Amino acid sequence: MLTVERLSISYGGVKALNELSMTLEPAKIYGLIGPNGAGKSTAINAISGVIAPTSGKVSLNGKDVTQHSVHQRARAGVRRTFQNLALFQSMTVRENVECGALHTISRQEGDGPSSAVDRLLDEFGLRAVQHSHTQALPLGLRKRVELARSLVSAPSVLLLDEPAAGLTLEDMDDLKRRVRLVRDAGGIVLIVEHNMNLVLSLCEYLYVLEFGNLIASGKPFDVMEDPRVQAAYFGGDDEDA
Ligand SMILES: Nc1ncnc2c1ncn2[C@@H]1O[C@H](COP(=O)(O)OP(=O)(O)O)[C@@H](O)[C@H]1O
Ligand SMILES: [Mg+2]
Repeated sequence: MLTVERLSISYGGVKALNELSMTLEPAKIYGLIGPNGAGKSTAINAISGVIAPTSGKVSLNGKDVTQHSVHQRARAGVRRTFQNLALFQSMTVRENVECGALHTISRQEGDGPSSAVDRLLDEFGLRAVQHSHTQALPLGLRKRVELARSLVSAPSVLLLDEPAAGLTLEDMDDLKRRVRLVRDAGGIVLIVEHNMNLVLSLCEYLYVLEFGNLIASGKPFDVMEDPRVQAAYFGGDDEDA
C-alpha cells in the first residue's frame, strides 16, 4: 500500500502541489491526470524521492519513507520512468537496463538479475541494439529502454510519467500488456498520461489535478463526468462547479 498524505511542494512562490492525498492499493492501476502544469510530474517526483516535499508524508506499507532517498525507495521496489527520459546517455542499452536490476537480490532460482536483463532485452526487441549507446537511438527505442529498466526487477510500485507520448500503436499495446502484468503480479501502478484512450482502458481509479489541487477522484467514467473535470479539460464555464 502506498499512501500520500497532504503532500505539498512549493517552488519559490509557486505551489506546484497543494495537500495531495492518495491511497494506492496493491494489484491496481491508477491514473493521475490533469492539464499541463497541474503538478503531476511533481507528485511522481516526490513519491519516487527525486524531490523532497515542502510538507506532507509518503508511506510505503505503513512505513514513512518521506525522508528516504531514491535508492532506498528503489530497494523497496519503487520504479519509475521520466516524462523527458532519464537514461544514462553514455552507457549502452544493456547497461541502462542492468541499472534497473542493481537492487535485485539474486534468489538462487536460476532467474537472477543477469538472466532477467537478457529476458527483458529479448522481450522488448532490444537485443540487436544492446551494445549501442542510448543517445544514438530514436525516441521510441529510448522509451522502450527506459520501460525495460523500470520493469527488470519486478517493481512493487511502478510510476510512469507520460509513457505513451511518441509511441507507435504497437508499442502502446505492449505498454498496456506490461502494465497489466505488473498489476497482476500484485504491483501498484500510477500512470500520468494525456492519452485518454490509454487512461480509460487501463486505469481502475483516477486522481485529477488542476493547479496543484486535487479536484476529483474515483472511478474513471464517474470522474470524467465531473463538471470540475470537464471544466479543467475543456474550459467549459457553462457548468457551475
Ligand atoms: N523545478 C521547478 N522549479 C520551479 N517551478 C517548477 C519546477 N518544476 C515544476 N514547476 C512548476 O510547478 C508546476 C507543476 O509542474 P509539473 O509537476 O511539471 O506539472 P505537470 O507534470 O502536471 O505538467 C508548474 O507550474 C511548473 O511550472
Ligand atoms: Mg509533467
